[in-house]
Amino acid sequence: MARTMVLIWAFSVLLVSTNLAHALGVNWGTQMAQNLHPSVVVQMLKDNKIGKVKLFDSDNWTVKYFAGSGIEVMLGIPNNQLSTLSNDYGKAKDWVKHNVTKHLKDVNIKYVAVGNEPFLKAYNGSHLKTTFPALQNIQKALNEAGVGDKVKATIPQNADVYDSGTGGPSAGDFRKDIRDLMVQIVRFFNANNAPFLVNIYPFLSLYENPDFPVEFAFFDGGAKPVQDKNIQYMNMFDANLDTLVWSLKKSGAPNVKVMVGEIGWPTDGNKNANVKMAKKFYDGLLRKLATNKGTPLHPGYIEVYLFSLTDENQKSVAPGNFERHWGVFRYDGQPKFPMDFSGNGNDKMPIGAKNVQYLPAQWCVFNKDIKNMSLVTNNIQYACSQSDCTSLNYGSICNNLDKAGNISYAFNMYFQMQNQDVEACDFQGLAKIVKQNASTSDCLFPIAIMSDGRRLNMVTGVSALAGLLTLLALF
Ligand SMILES: *[C@@H]1O[C@H](CO)[C@@H](O)[C@H](O)[C@H]1NC(C)=O
Ligand SMILES: *[C@@H]1O[C@H](CO)[C@@H](O)[C@H](O)[C@H]1NC(C)=O
Ligand SMILES: *[C@@H]1O[C@H](CO)[C@@H](O)[C@H](O)[C@H]1NC(C)=O
Ligand SMILES: *[C@@H]1O[C@H](CO)[C@@H](O)[C@H](O)[C@H]1NC(C)=O
Ligand SMILES: *[C@@H]1O[C@H](CO)[C@@H](O)[C@H](O)[C@H]1NC(C)=O
Ligand SMILES: *[C@@H]1O[C@H](CO)[C@@H](O)[C@H](O)[C@H]1NC(C)=O
Repeated sequence: MARTMVLIWAFSVLLVSTNLAHALGVNWGTQMAQNLHPSVVVQMLKDNKIGKVKLFDSDNWTVKYFAGSGIEVMLGIPNNQLSTLSNDYGKAKDWVKHNVTKHLKDVNIKYVAVGNEPFLKAYNGSHLKTTFPALQNIQKALNEAGVGDKVKATIPQNADVYDSGTGGPSAGDFRKDIRDLMVQIVRFFNANNAPFLVNIYPFLSLYENPDFPVEFAFFDGGAKPVQDKNIQYMNMFDANLDTLVWSLKKSGAPNVKVMVGEIGWPTDGNKNANVKMAKKFYDGLLRKLATNKGTPLHPGYIEVYLFSLTDENQKSVAPGNFERHWGVFRYDGQPKFPMDFSGNGNDKMPIGAKNVQYLPAQWCVFNKDIKNMSLVTNNIQYACSQSDCTSLNYGSICNNLDKAGNISYAFNMYFQMQNQDVEACDFQGLAKIVKQNASTSDCLFPIAIMSDGRRLNMVTGVSALAGLLTLLALF
């Protein structure tokens, strides 16, 4: 009897760990006015059998909710901490002690992502000197703490760190201006058995280049193949990943494990960003991943982190309005469209976040009794600059609203993102709070979710202070 139990136990442990080894990963970014509570996110990942999560920081309040979940966690170090960690090994040791070692007993931390796309051209080289030393310091601190076998430091890179000029993938190599540095980094990965993490975005190729063959961004065939010696590339993902494989080969590090740190498709904010195209992309990608066929030069399983778990209404829109709409789930953790994370084609709505607490069902709208419109423009501008109006623009889901609808949408987004603070629905007398759902059939006027505990405290602090100031003003 006992032996059977042990066998069953051993078998299920094996089952769980093999499942996890090939489990799907997802990025969880938190640049939102109100974030889902980490316990809600953990349940959501479990419900959808998403076994790995990549974070953009290492905040201990969040990380501790992953304890006992079995979910593999990749911690993140923001770019603005690279400098400190690069020139102070003591700081790196502290970082590892507080952010890794302390949690390891019950949180399954596997990777530390040092920086985030630090060599993006847009950063003008500001992280070129600090990223590699920071990486070395973190890995060294992990090794010295005795956890270097289990936890590896890596760097999430944009795919623009390599290119192939006008040739196919076989012409691939690291970008000329950073090649020497990249060669050092990948040899360091090689020596430490750490992976290369790359973000691949067929959507952005399409967005940046109107001549990009649309079907090449997807996985359904139908695009003109790219012929590279004796290999035919049918989609951008394969061609891009193999360009990296070539770049690694040419840098003397052909055996470094390749992982995809971010991949996905946004659902709003651009003519190519919609549910239909996102579904097509994910269906193709997940079906492909399920076969474990890999790419021509990287056959087999590829570890992939989808971008992203939810929309993030406070991300910078410098890259484009789509930037706030990368979520597989909406802002409140509810699914947007049917898909099958397992890639087996069992198309159904993913399981949404459970026990999400919403603010009261009330909206801030334009008061149609107002006839003098002279103050409207400034107030819309203010509301949108402090909230998220990306769904109003041309090509987005709320672009068909009438004038009053536009104004209301802006007012409501501001009001919701300010936690429905009554004072956030004034707009010089142009606005009013209503109980009647302001949404139209195409355009959702969202009700904000309650902030997670930590932020709620901050908000309460602020309104208490505002209340005090109001009181003082009375006297
Ligand atoms: C989390 O980190 C903060 C700041 O580093 C520290 O003050 C706090 O004690 C930590 N909390 C826990 C539960 O470890
Ligand atoms: C833990 O990681 C976070 C994010 O990188 C950082 O802000 C914090 O300072 C780290 N804690 C220590 C003690 O280094
Ligand atoms: C990079 O340089 C450009 C042009 O000089 C400037 O507009 C931009 O703000 C700089 N970006 C950063 C991150 O320093
Ligand atoms: C409309 O409101 C503005 C600002 O309050 C005011 O200056 C203007 O005189 C008003 N126009 C009319 C026609 O009442
Ligand atoms: C609503 O706002 C959007 C974005 O500013 C604009 O494109 C559209 O024309 C506006 N609609 C009306 C009826 O004013
Ligand atoms: C408001 O209406 C929209 C569209 O019918 C719906 O999706 C949404 O759930 C409603 N919101 C509330 C709080 O009832």
